Amino acid sequence: MEIAGKTALVTGSGVRLGKAISRALAENGCQLVLHYNSSAEGSEEVRDYAATLGVKALTYRADLTNPDELRALVSFGTAEFGHLDILINNSAIYLSGKGMDTTSELLEKQFRLNLFAPVLLIRAFAAQLPEGLTGKVVNISDAKVFRHQPDHFAYRLTKAAVNEMTLMFALELAPRITVNAIAPGVMLPLAGREDTDMEALAERRIPLKRVGSPEIIAENVLHILWQDFMTGTIIRVDGGEGI
Ligand SMILES: NC(=O)c1ccc[n+]([C@@H]2O[C@H](COP(=O)([O-])OP(=O)(O)OC[C@H]3O[C@@H](n4cnc5c(N)ncnc54)[C@H](OP(=O)(O)O)[C@@H]3O)[C@@H](O)[C@H]2O)c1
Repeated sequence: MEIAGKTALVTGSGVRLGKAISRALAENGCQLVLHYNSSAEGSEEVRDYAATLGVKALTYRADLTNPDELRALVSFGTAEFGHLDILINNSAIYLSGKGMDTTSELLEKQFRLNLFAPVLLIRAFAAQLPEGLTGKVVNISDAKVFRHQPDHFAYRLTKAAVNEMTLMFALELAPRITVNAIAPGVMLPLAGREDTDMEALAERRIPLKRVGSPEIIAENVLHILWQDFMTGTIIRVDGGEGI
């Protein structure tokens, strides 16, 4: 797909991976609906950056655990841009705890944002895509799910479900809409744990001996968007950590 002149909705566009993905899309001429929940400033920075490139971008706040706000976000995008061509499901939370620590409230909170919201967004995205046009969905998953561990029990379950959902929607929505996922390994320290020694971590765990970056994930999103003979693929971008 030629993405210049197309419109993408990016969830969680104000920080970290979502911000880098949004900037890369703007740099390639893609108009943007920049979703945020609490990071208005970050999304506005991307909007202003896009404006310097002559690319239209608009910000919109929504708590994606609320289906009404989620639907309002998609309606905002279609009202402002006519329709959406691309959906990037990036928003997620990362709750800790093993299975025995995981209450039903925690499970529900985790699933509402990481799985239910992408599913509802894909449904709304497919419904608004005008007949005769093609669309692309990219789900941001996690390479963690390929290395089984008991930590982050609920989070891991959501991302395993995101991978399965990617394949199922790829079949259901073909040939009009491609649905792929990227499974990042270690890209950044955890939010609030910026003092983590990432070099030591990479030395210990990652065959390529370095961590990734938000920009590497953005490059992989562009790759998925640019070429058209791929659907139901989960690209693992983890420096070999999962081998
Ligand atoms: N960073 C990594 O190394 C890494 C590794 C593997 C996978 N991933 C995946 O990559 C994606 C981005 O991760 P990240 O580390 O860049 O982001 P992050 O720091 O975990 O930020 C999460 C994003 O989710 C949004 N969000 C949180 N609660 C929300 C809600 N109720 N409604 C709507 N949006 C909400 C946040 O928006 P606001 O800030 O506006 O509130 C933020 O943009 C996630 O899917 C994550 O699982 C990241």
